[in-house]
Amino acid sequence: MTVAIERSPTLVVRSAELFAGLPDADTKRLERAHGNRDLMDVLDILGLAGPLRTVSPWELQDPDGRHLIHAGGYAAVPFGESYPPLREAVVRHLQETHDLGLPQQSLSAWRGAVEANLVALLAAVAPSHADSRVFFSNSGAEAVEAAIKFAKAHRPNAGSMINFARAYHGKTAWALALTPNEEYQAPFRPLPGPVHTLPYGDLDAFEHALRELGPDTVTAVIVEPIQGEGGVIRPPAGFLAGLGARCREHGIVVIADEIQTGLGRAGHWFASVADGLDPDIVTLAKPLGGGLVPVAATIARAPIYRSMLPGTASKRHSNTFGGGTLGMVVAQRSLELLVDEDLVAKARRDGEVGLARLRATAERYPEFFEEVRGAGMLFAMKVRPVAPEKRLPIDPELVPLLGAILALRALHLHGISGCFANTTQRVVRLTPALNLPEPLRDQLFDRVDAMAAHYKQAWRMLGSMSPGRWIRLAKLAL
Ligand SMILES: Cc1ncc(COP(=O)(O)O)c(C=O)c1O
Repeated sequence: MTVAIERSPTLVVRSAELFAGLPDADTKRLERAHGNRDLMDVLDILGLAGPLRTVSPWELQDPDGRHLIHAGGYAAVPFGESYPPLREAVVRHLQETHDLGLPQQSLSAWRGAVEANLVALLAAVAPSHADSRVFFSNSGAEAVEAAIKFAKAHRPNAGSMINFARAYHGKTAWALALTPNEEYQAPFRPLPGPVHTLPYGDLDAFEHALRELGPDTVTAVIVEPIQGEGGVIRPPAGFLAGLGARCREHGIVVIADEIQTGLGRAGHWFASVADGLDPDIVTLAKPLGGGLVPVAATIARAPIYRSMLPGTASKRHSNTFGGGTLGMVVAQRSLELLVDEDLVAKARRDGEVGLARLRATAERYPEFFEEVRGAGMLFAMKVRPVAPEKRLPIDPELVPLLGAILALRALHLHGISGCFANTTQRVVRLTPALNLPEPLRDQLFDRVDAMAAHYKQAWRMLGSMSPGRWIRLAKLAL
């Protein structure tokens, strides 16, 4: 019998090279070879692939030397990149503390602090949450999965879920089942369920559905107080309060998905509570990670929490990394920065200024913008169609997508790094840092204005790409 001798493997890239700065061409080669090549190729064709580098917490530079104001990060960069007070806390923690990195089976002061602070922040506006409990995980989707398991454990005899059209809750199994988007769901059916999708903001439709389904069959309703990925859509006044009241009557668990809106982004600590809802479960994520590390939290009323994690079954739901100390240090410091720098109120004020600026631009260039919307530091711009859907030699469904990606490119060419909108069409979004200095805030909206002034009509963005880039894009699309 021959025994294979295992040789020590050689790593392809060493951190010393990365610290020294890997040439962009090598980065591209590595990413294309072993990562999401098609995504990287689309970004490359559009001229957005970077790699982008930071100039200050709020400013970036692309490889062509273009200066960009950072309004990307999908609402998960609350203080800009590597904000010094956050960086100092991380360095200090690593240098000075003796805490375990992953205290899964022991007490943790940092985890305890974040649990207590999150509950205190929620209870300050929703006092019925004074004794609520927190479960930590590592992504928004995972926080949603936990929320669904909490609700199901608490109401085991019901069974179905209610969600809303254009919702976005993530892409893991339950989160995906609750994200009614054909492109994302189709290949993965059957998904967990049953899920009943109702029109967002329509209380009559909700009441009708409850009568039809029978309230006892409904486990939970999951709702975004403002649909972020849906393109910054607010429900009509009274919808969230009415929804909460109907659910309370029947004991249906209400989950407010505040992963995007919560902790200041929409100008409130909790946008759902500000709009009259007293949710049973709240999911949080993006700003908790300070733009640095993944941290997500599911806050549940104590009896609901206990239904899932009672006594000896208190490990019925768990994960390896949730509540890890580095994440908790960042979450704790992030909450402090939000409080100490009064960023929730600042987001509300700057949001009003920004939306007024966007509206003025949209009025001046009505053939470029169809609509602009905003909620705190969450902005959406819907562009006019760039082409009649049947004219281009590509799948008609791709034409609205083209509008969004061309708008993302147009923003970039005019010095703004923005975001896509996951569940809507022809929409790009700006999610700048909540602590964006005022001169940069004004410059951001000057640049949007300059972009619209440059194109005037949305279809002119088609001319921003050379024939060579179009051919590469068409090859990918076909
Ligand atoms: C409201 C909402 N829920 C859930 C998610 C999923 O979060 P993640 O991408 O961290 O899984 C998002 C992400 O954009 C979101 O906006």
